[in-house]
Amino acid sequence: MNVNGTPTRTLWPARTGRAVEIIDQTALPHALRTLRLSTLEDAAHAIRSMQVRGAPLIGATAAYGVALALAARADDAALAAALATLAATRPTAVNLHWALARMQVALAPRPPAERADLAWREAAAIADEDAAQCRHIGEHGLALLRPLAERRGRLDVMTHCNAGWLATVDHGTALAPVYAAFEAGIDVHVWVSETRPRNQGLLTAWELKQHGVPHTLIADNAAGLLLARGGANAIDAVIVGADRIAANGDVANKVGTYLKALAARESGVPFYVAAPRSTVDFACASGTAIPIEERAGDELRVVHGCDAALAPVQVRQIPADEAVANPAFDVTPARLVSALITERGLCAASADGLLGLYPEARSEMPAQAHRENARA
Ligand code: MRU
Repeated sequence: MNVNGTPTRTLWPARTGRAVEIIDQTALPHALRTLRLSTLEDAAHAIRSMQVRGAPLIGATAAYGVALALAARADDAALAAALATLAATRPTAVNLHWALARMQVALAPRPPAERADLAWREAAAIADEDAAQCRHIGEHGLALLRPLAERRGRLDVMTHCNAGWLATVDHGTALAPVYAAFEAGIDVHVWVSETRPRNQGLLTAWELKQHGVPHTLIADNAAGLLLARGGANAIDAVIVGADRIAANGDVANKVGTYLKALAARESGVPFYVAAPRSTVDFACASGTAIPIEERAGDELRVVHGCDAALAPVQVRQIPADEAVANPAFDVTPARLVSALITERGLCAASADGLLGLYPEARSEMPAQAHRENARA
């Protein structure tokens, strides 16, 4: 997608040496800064500290992390250590674990002397495939949005967190249909919720602005009011991304997603989840089995911004000894999801719906996933 009018990805191989470059998302929206990742530890730190973030992007970064590790040492012990280090960075987004499993399958059977080059090629393939899959999500999402836009002559979409191109290698998941609608000449406008405490909504606003897509930032707590009002100001659809979709269609995504799904259901607004295959955990029977990341309390206690000269500043808003809880994700039950938008098309958020699109995953799916749907 465009930054200052130039097509840009969120990570790319460096021009010189075995390294990758990334957009440092901790500096956005105030500064556009790139960072060079040259080692396994650089990649692990980038994921842990959220210099890169968003489920598909951390998967691609982890794949390159393995490649960077093997460029230094490629024996079995080095491969196992790289996989373990990267797997421990963040728990909820399954794309990370999917990418590591794919790297292991590709690399472990090969002699160490071949592994470094192969790892580099495999990581590049994961990144390219992610960009292509997100583009397809956009095309399928556009087919869904077009009739909604035709009803009113315009389209209002609400999203949560950042599931745009910054969360992927390119195009985004939830925002891919929005970008496709914009490119198709549809009069589209996006309601962007701030997404406390990390404020990933500010990244969404930044990337929409870069691309010229009309949008409005709202406090998270304003979403219910906006979803409830119909008529000329109605919201046509909510579209969010996902960090892990269980085999029964339950969706883990940024904390606050569940509240939006409840408000959307109450208001009769369709609630869509856009995600590629790498976000579906067919081995996970239901959302109750998804590990939810608990992040540092200081993300609530300390607010980050910048001063008039755009230098970063931090402001403590809660005393250090105040007890806080900071779950980073929540689980939206499948019954609140109108449909999943994937690179293969749309499906119901259910075991049958997912198997209809991905029949090859049948052997991975526990029988309990079907029972969970029957119970719901
Ligand atoms: O904690 P983050 O910023 O990595 O969480 C990101 C989200 O929850 C996104 O909505 C999700 O990854 C969707 S992916 C495009």
